[in-house]
Amino acid sequence: METPNGIGSLGLHNFIAQQFSMPEGVCGRVAGAIMGLINHLPNKRAIERLDIAERDDVLEIGFGPGWALKAMVRFAHGGTITGVDRSPTMFRQAEARNRTAIGDGKLKLIRGTFEQLPLESATVDKILAVNVIYFCSPTGTALAEAHRVLRPGGILSIYATDCSSMRKFQFIGPETQQTFDRKGLKDFLGKSPFASDQIEIQKVWLPFGFRGLVARLCKR
Ligand SMILES: C[S@@+](CC[C@H](N)C(=O)[O-])C[C@H]1O[C@@H](n2cnc3c(N)ncnc32)[C@H](O)[C@@H]1O
Repeated sequence: METPNGIGSLGLHNFIAQQFSMPEGVCGRVAGAIMGLINHLPNKRAIERLDIAERDDVLEIGFGPGWALKAMVRFAHGGTITGVDRSPTMFRQAEARNRTAIGDGKLKLIRGTFEQLPLESATVDKILAVNVIYFCSPTGTALAEAHRVLRPGGILSIYATDCSSMRKFQFIGPETQQTFDRKGLKDFLGKSPFASDQIEIQKVWLPFGFRGLVARLCKR
């Protein structure tokens, strides 16, 4: 079936998946608004696992519309918050949402990629990564980068929607490099520089039958 703009129904799902991977233009702005709604609880659960302290330096990779950054500024008001995302459209949304924190020097947004984080080694205490791991290369470069920029004792919290829900709600498209069930996520994270006894994965149940996974990784 064709939609009025000529995008077939399968094409439409691919288009939505693509906008979640690299939101661009008007459609990207709509995708940002949708993320704000559906990613609220995943962000809440993943932020809880970070145990953010007042003086922590925190990084979010793939900040999208910037809601989680806004929440984390309240916890780490004596530290710094940095966000890295490759999308100019998401940069503008997150910037508009967090003007005060940016103006006060508490929050810095950077356009960059997970594969080459524009940060010095061992400079952050906590990293948040919500609904981004599907877009990371299966080689694990992004996890190695996260490990590099964390201080010893630092924590990385990852939320991933379970692959069964990704399939059910047709969030998988050509941009999706990998999807996970609990075992798949454990295996993937187990190949990273984080020691396997420093990785914990919890299942989370969300509204509308969504199932998710929150992984907490600690750097020795
Ligand atoms: C599905 S959105 C999730 C946004 C946000 N974490 C949330 O919970 O609403 C994924 C975000 O990751 C960004 N992204 C995807 N792959 C990336 C990469 N390799 N480097 C930097 N940003 C990336 C996209 O631009 C997008 O803003």
